Amino acid sequence: MKNADFLTGITPSGTPHLGNFVGAIRPAVASSKDRDLTSYYFLADYHSLIKNHDPKKRQSSTLQIAAAWIALGLDHENCVFYRQSDIPEIPELTWILTCLTAKGLMNRAHAYKAKVQENETAGNKDPDQAITMGLFSYPILMAADILMFNAAKVPVGKDQVQHLEMTRDIAARFNHVYEKLFVLPEVVVDENTAVLSGLDGRKMSKSYDNYIPLFDTEKRLRKMIMKIQTNSLGPDEPKDPDTCTLFSIYRAFATREQTAAMAERYRAGIAWGVMKQELFEYINTILAEPRQRYDELIKNPKEIEDILAKGAHKARQYSMPFLEKIRAAIGIRSLG
Ligand code: TRP
Repeated sequence: MKNADFLTGITPSGTPHLGNFVGAIRPAVASSKDRDLTSYYFLADYHSLIKNHDPKKRQSSTLQIAAAWIALGLDHENCVFYRQSDIPEIPELTWILTCLTAKGLMNRAHAYKAKVQENETAGNKDPDQAITMGLFSYPILMAADILMFNAAKVPVGKDQVQHLEMTRDIAARFNHVYEKLFVLPEVVVDENTAVLSGLDGRKMSKSYDNYIPLFDTEKRLRKMIMKIQTNSLGPDEPKDPDTCTLFSIYRAFATREQTAAMAERYRAGIAWGVMKQELFEYINTILAEPRQRYDELIKNPKEIEDILAKGAHKARQYSMPFLEKIRAAIGIRSLG
């Protein structure tokens, strides 16, 4: 198995939504099909332990996300698609890297600092109240995810850029202290990747609870789209496409020409009811087939297990021998 040209992880927390599709799934599906690239995509279930302590939710989210990626056309034969917890070499590498990582580096992690800030604002005596070691040190787990497969490029959202800098730091430290085994990964933040607005006009996100699930029934998809907030302009009044949530969602799916034509109709005055119905029909047409496949997969998780087992097998063809090299480099090796 070759090292990763591209690698990215998806934390299974919650239900996959339209924002995940345009932001992460669609670009990943496209590069999963590229015969010249070795792409690794994995379900970061160990990361999900940080915030969620409900076993059923973790299992169901892992199932839903795996099913969504497959249903939307991920080429799992060509890429490497696996579940983090199926790769025991990752937690082992995590410990090795933990022993090289300065605590001060972790003190600077945004997610941790935000929690400390919350405690201070709330007037809590202990700034570390309710903060686990998992939250504190998860950038090291993420570094291990990436370095385990010597990934060259890591596509992530802006909020993850700091973790990539930390990964490079940690890799350089290993290379300096022991042996030059790790490639320093590059972060890829695609500015062109669409960021979808949610029901209330803010970024579509699980944390704002303003998202539209990808694979609800047709009826519920329609209901959600009808709920999207608009202003109170009347049916024939000219409207501004650029500040409209409906338009921004339409644009993320439609072609350039369709988008330009729709902008014209906004300026001419399109009734909100008409626009909502058209948006629903447009998205529903795109999702109809994947929805069927998704429903089949959810009913037959064994098929997903088989795909993930094959993925783990491929991934471990890289991670097992590489971890042997790492162990040898740090002096955990045969005494004879
Ligand atoms: N922490 C990432 C997120 O919250 C998910 C993730 C885990 C990841 N491991 C990774 C992303 C490795 C890229 C590479 O989005």
